[in-house]
Amino acid sequence: MKLSLTHYLIRCEREHGLDSDLRLLLETVARACKTISHAVGKGALGNVLGNAGTTNVQGEAQKKLDLLSNEILFEANCWGGHLAGMASEEMHGPMGIPVAYPRGKYLLLFDPLDGSSNIDVNVSIGTIFSVLPSPLTGEDAGEAAFLQSGARQVCAGYTVYGPQTSLVLTVGHGVQVFTLDRDTGSFLLTQSDVKIPVDTCEFAINMSNARHWETPVKRYVDELLAGKTGPRGTDFNMRWVASMVADVHRIMTRGGIFMYPRDARDPAKPGRLRLMYEGNPMAFLIEQAGGAATDGRRRILDIEPTKLHERVAVFLGSSNEVERVTSYH
Ligand code: F6P
Repeated sequence: MKLSLTHYLIRCEREHGLDSDLRLLLETVARACKTISHAVGKGALGNVLGNAGTTNVQGEAQKKLDLLSNEILFEANCWGGHLAGMASEEMHGPMGIPVAYPRGKYLLLFDPLDGSSNIDVNVSIGTIFSVLPSPLTGEDAGEAAFLQSGARQVCAGYTVYGPQTSLVLTVGHGVQVFTLDRDTGSFLLTQSDVKIPVDTCEFAINMSNARHWETPVKRYVDELLAGKTGPRGTDFNMRWVASMVADVHRIMTRGGIFMYPRDARDPAKPGRLRLMYEGNPMAFLIEQAGGAATDGRRRILDIEPTKLHERVAVFLGSSNEVERVTSYH
């Protein structure tokens, strides 16, 4: 019989001393993700597709499902007493815990629905989350409390809402994949201790931005494209889903390198992806699976953030390729 998420977390509590508050928090996050999975699955039948008519703090048009997912995660997690605050891609500042409920010792950060451009076209999307310790146990957390490096995360995970709903999780003891059993509503452990191959012949990058890339990225990708007769002496294949969760999940499954480099389109932005709720949780998961994650120059998990919605360049996946492109910088 397959292990449920609850059973796995209780085992972590017994074997690795996982904090029971963290376990309960993660069960709540997983429950919220099931609700989101259900809403995503309804699509046009649930009247959840299309734009909400609002924009987020980054100036991006919000979809109805972005806002609904944000609400589901907030509502599910605001009353349990495990959190001192939450932060989301869709919200300007930290979301406080309502006065009626106790404050806890953790901070939850999330991108409620990653890959927004794929929502209306029925392509895989997902939720990304990160848990940090709150420096102010039992008190409300302001923005400063969230500004901790990714190395301090106690848990990171994502769900992919695709042909199957998968929850991929680390609490610092490897990476486990759970699949949602739609009959029983349980997440069941379907892959333990994921290991990403160190070598790969598959890369993921939005090639349409090539003319804006920095020289090291151009060099690296040119070498991949040159194939068998080029300096790498082998052919490389390319995949780009445009949902980070789906691209990372492919890498978790069979290896690869994912890149969203900084580019010259807006020199003020050091990349497109957000550090705190995209770069950091994915970097933690990838490292726990034996891969590597850098911004081209530094390990992502070592970056000290200066603001909640900070952006970061991302190179992650099979370690030999990440190390090579990083060395070109
Ligand atoms: O906002 C994040 C995101 O949607 C990622 O999920 C994805 O990898 C990337 O942006 C897609 O970017 P682009 O639109 O350039 O393909």
